[in-house]
Amino acid sequence: MAKLLNLHRAARLVGVTRGALQKKIQDGELDSFDGMIAVEELHRAYPDASLEDNTTLEQVASIKEHAFGRRIMEHTLPDKEVLAARLHELSKELVESKALLQHTRGMLEGVNTLLSEWVMQGGDRSRFAATLKTWLHEQRMHTPPASDAERALMIRDNFLRVMSAQVRVLPSGVDFFVEGSDTLLEAALRAGIPLAYGCSNGSCGMCKARVLSGEVKQVRPHEFLISPAQQALGYALLCSCTAISDLVLEAEVARTPHEVPEQQLSGEVRAMAQPTDEVTVIHIKTPPAERLRFLAGQRAVLTLSGSLAMELPIASCPCEDRHLEFHVRRLHGHHFSDYVFEQLQPGARVSIRGPRGDFVLDAASQRPIVFIAFCTGFAPVKSLMEHAMALDQAESIHLLWIATKESGLYLPGLARAWADALDNFYYEPILVGGDLDATASRQENVIAKTIGPKLRAIPSLTRANVYVAGPGLAVGAMKKILLALAVPEAQVFSDYE
Ligand code: FES
Repeated sequence: MAKLLNLHRAARLVGVTRGALQKKIQDGELDSFDGMIAVEELHRAYPDASLEDNTTLEQVASIKEHAFGRRIMEHTLPDKEVLAARLHELSKELVESKALLQHTRGMLEGVNTLLSEWVMQGGDRSRFAATLKTWLHEQRMHTPPASDAERALMIRDNFLRVMSAQVRVLPSGVDFFVEGSDTLLEAALRAGIPLAYGCSNGSCGMCKARVLSGEVKQVRPHEFLISPAQQALGYALLCSCTAISDLVLEAEVARTPHEVPEQQLSGEVRAMAQPTDEVTVIHIKTPPAERLRFLAGQRAVLTLSGSLAMELPIASCPCEDRHLEFHVRRLHGHHFSDYVFEQLQPGARVSIRGPRGDFVLDAASQRPIVFIAFCTGFAPVKSLMEHAMALDQAESIHLLWIATKESGLYLPGLARAWADALDNFYYEPILVGGDLDATASRQENVIAKTIGPKLRAIPSLTRANVYVAGPGLAVGAMKKILLALAVPEAQVFSDYE
């Protein structure tokens, strides 16, 4: 049966107004049936408009977008739930059509085989007609319908393929999904994949990569020009394009901290919070054309007031674009800490140099993970935890957050939220009393006595990668205890103040 379109859809499909289409109908140049137009008829009336080619529509959409702005365009889209429901219905139709097509192909092959046999056997027409009739009847009766579960799966698969595209990156072989209106770069960083990039706003060209298969679409403007020759080879900017279909990309992925170059940039303190009197959380934003590229768990040197500098772990995720987060511990008599607690205000200029350090996740490993954070050692652990969640490949994740008193566990709601959201995540807050900066021997005694039993209770401890962060003496003491508990040295990673 001919596929029929209403006037509105038909006009959009060929890139003309409804008025122009109506005029053609009135002039007798286009046939319609009850206000509907057959696709074949539309093609006959507009032979130059390829129904596969959306160029005209894109031009119209682009003009509209520029004329009325993105917000107006967003208003013209249906509600998200309506859109999802329509998509679901279309997916069902697609599954049924594919099943019908497959069945019809099978029937045609069967008829072809019967015909060949008939010719070879001498061509008795009436016998052939009877055989064909019986065969067709059997085919109708024995067509195994797809089970409801299979159909539901196929419908969901279609639905998801529209909602998100899968991207494979070569030669590393890593892959990620692009959801919503994310660019390829945003989606990769969100998935914990450190693609090469610079500005993330289309001006530097550092995110240029080659599309080996699949379709991309530019969704953000860019100033950087890709030569026609490179465009012909499939090069595109990952910070300005999204995926239309599943993709295979050829792009550089940093696998070690040494592959991420150190940068010097400026920023502004956008917000500050003191969740407890022991810690200040600083939120910094870099200028629109500057991004700090780093791996989760790395550090940066912050310089305040022109000369007060301190190297601190970055607590935010590399996927957070221009936003950087740092946790500063209250250290009385320490110039940087005193300045942060007593004088720093939102709006202050900050200089940032980094990234530094190699306290990063072993992204290739699927071992269980144990994070041990002493007080503000939680900052790099927070970044690593977000990376581990994005990779979603660890068998289990344990977090032991240790402080001398309650106020040292300054973001307990966040750790509990992880525990609520993840089935394989276990959070244990531990208070040890005393002083984390005390002598090494005291540290070892306290840690061995208080934390040793908790570590021994983790069944996968000796198989796990263990990441320890916090004050130097506490971290040193913890490493000795871990080795004494038979955790191989190669599986222990540390970061200390
Ligand atoms: S990161 Fe600079 S152009 Fe994409």
